[in-house]
Amino acid sequence: MQGAVLLLAGAIAATPPTDPWPISVLEDLVTGPLAGRPLVVYLDETLGFSTSQLIRSAFQGVPLVLADLRIQGKEWCERQTQEVLGAGWLVHLVLLGSNATVFFEDLATVECNWQPLYLLLVNTRGGSPDALMEEAFSRVEHLALLSVQDRASNSSLSTFIYSFFPFSHQAPVRLTGIWSTSTSLQHLFVDRFPSFEGYQFQIASWVDDYPYLYLTSGETDDLRQVRELQTGEASGLQVEVLDTLGYTLNFTYTMMTRPEDWLWGELQDGAWTGMLGKVHSGEKNFTVNFFGYNLERTRAFDASSPYWMEGYGLTILAPPPLPKWRAAYYPFNVFVWGCCVAAFLLVVIGWTLQGGSSGGDGKGWLYLLRPLLNQSLPTLPSSQGLRISIATWCLAAFILTTAYTANLFAFLSVPAFPPRIRTVEELAESSLRVTMCDYGEFVPEALNVSGNQYYRALGTKLDLHEEYNNTLPLLINGSHAFLESYSYSRILLKLSDYDVSATYMLKEQLYPAHLCWYYKKHSPWKHRLDRGLVRLVEAGLVGHWIQEKTNQLLGRGWQSEDGGTRQDSPLSLQHLQAPFLILLLVLLVSVLVLLVEIILHKLKEGSGCVTSQTLSYNLWKLQHCITREIR
Ligand SMILES: *[C@@H]1O[C@H](CO)[C@@H](O)[C@H](O)[C@H]1NC(C)=O
Repeated sequence: MQGAVLLLAGAIAATPPTDPWPISVLEDLVTGPLAGRPLVVYLDETLGFSTSQLIRSAFQGVPLVLADLRIQGKEWCERQTQEVLGAGWLVHLVLLGSNATVFFEDLATVECNWQPLYLLLVNTRGGSPDALMEEAFSRVEHLALLSVQDRASNSSLSTFIYSFFPFSHQAPVRLTGIWSTSTSLQHLFVDRFPSFEGYQFQIASWVDDYPYLYLTSGETDDLRQVRELQTGEASGLQVEVLDTLGYTLNFTYTMMTRPEDWLWGELQDGAWTGMLGKVHSGEKNFTVNFFGYNLERTRAFDASSPYWMEGYGLTILAPPPLPKWRAAYYPFNVFVWGCCVAAFLLVVIGWTLQGGSSGGDGKGWLYLLRPLLNQSLPTLPSSQGLRISIATWCLAAFILTTAYTANLFAFLSVPAFPPRIRTVEELAESSLRVTMCDYGEFVPEALNVSGNQYYRALGTKLDLHEEYNNTLPLLINGSHAFLESYSYSRILLKLSDYDVSATYMLKEQLYPAHLCWYYKKHSPWKHRLDRGLVRLVEAGLVGHWIQEKTNQLLGRGWQSEDGGTRQDSPLSLQHLQAPFLILLLVLLVSVLVLLVEIILHKLKEGSGCVTSQTLSYNLWKLQHCITREIR
């Protein structure tokens, strides 16, 4: 390295301004490593060669965008397409002159999306390679500088390649090779971020984001306490990922417990709030909390590759199970019950018409009821026709009673629930309102302006509250559905002080999104972290860690608990209430029938009670008879 610095000093002394070297080097570049790639060439007229001459000789037949360094960087930027400013297949070539610094400073300060993937500086004056450290170039992923040097040994001109390693402690600007016609693109643009060399990243975080990032403490297992005291160590998926990446890429990190403004992060009146605000202003380097992709964010930040997918979940209080005694009639629905009664009546009528009432004791309907109650028939009818109809009826009754009995077993042992809300559409149309904690998420806003009518309906029914202590009681009261990011709410509810065993979550998730980290815009080193993240995702480690953290928080077997606990228990009176009720009812009916029979009997005897055609008279008579009877 010292050698390079010495050489550099020599080169400044012997600068041949009219040397034709750049032309030949440019020719070699265009036919060599940059072959087939369109160029954006930044030209400075002060260099002393004419543009047309350059194009004719060096860039013959190469697709090319020319930028004149004499104009304002801002002005130039506004007139370019997105492709010219940042497409990865373009190579940007700067012929450094005295105007360059001003132009590029201007490009970097304005809100310009200029971010070349490949930027090659060509130092035509043999000056210092420190131009690489220019603030404007810090956003470029592949950055190199070609510099001509006077090699002392044989006085012939040589071209050196330099690059800038921002994380390097010793020599940020370093010689990476010597230019020759066989230099490849990889040799020209070396990896500038092979390691972060122990760098400490500042992460904008809110350590209350189950299961991604949360506080734990080694001593107490009581997570509620840890939550309240806000002490302990950060844990969760992101800590695992960061530790793993930090180990391989050699970096450390610091986190913050929560943003000072208690906001998650969104664009409000043109300014970013919360964690994203910290990153946007450059105070912090990136976020690792629950953030999905959206257009606004990806414009203002550099997004990482996705690591997980999740949306927002709705938790609803389950309606209580139906009264157990009603299990007696659940086995059939109302229509089937109706059909049974109708069929029985039909059979009785048919039986009577066939003269069946004479068979047995003359009470045809009682005789026909026997198959339904699993009773054997005392005698078979004598006529063949009647035998056939009784056989058919027996078969039908057998099927009906078997179906009823089998279903009754099931309904006695498993609690039956009234229909629940299963979809967002049903929720939107129900009388339930929705509640959510207001910490500056985009969801309330998005619901209100949604193109989907059901989402909009949810938006108008949404009650925002500051704290979970205000939202959760509403859920438990059954007046509101609780809206929160899916796995967070699952864990939060289990850890809360409320009894949430009777709640369930809708399967559907709102705004499911791929989650990502957000870096400050134009972070050229982000691809290093991204590549690591992708590997962890592809190896299944991210999924594994999420599962593991959820298990730790909820206890193993939490999945099987979903949908209520099922325990074997003896049948209670509640289950068996129905037979007693039926017994009571039938007894009442039979007493009534007895009464009617007595009255009819007395009326027939005609002992002073003359029958009359009018109903009112009859009723009066009835009363009269009853009182006399009692006396
Ligand atoms: C990270 O953020 C700090 C501010 O806290 C900033 O000074 C530093 O330049 C950032 N690091 C990188 C690599 O961007």
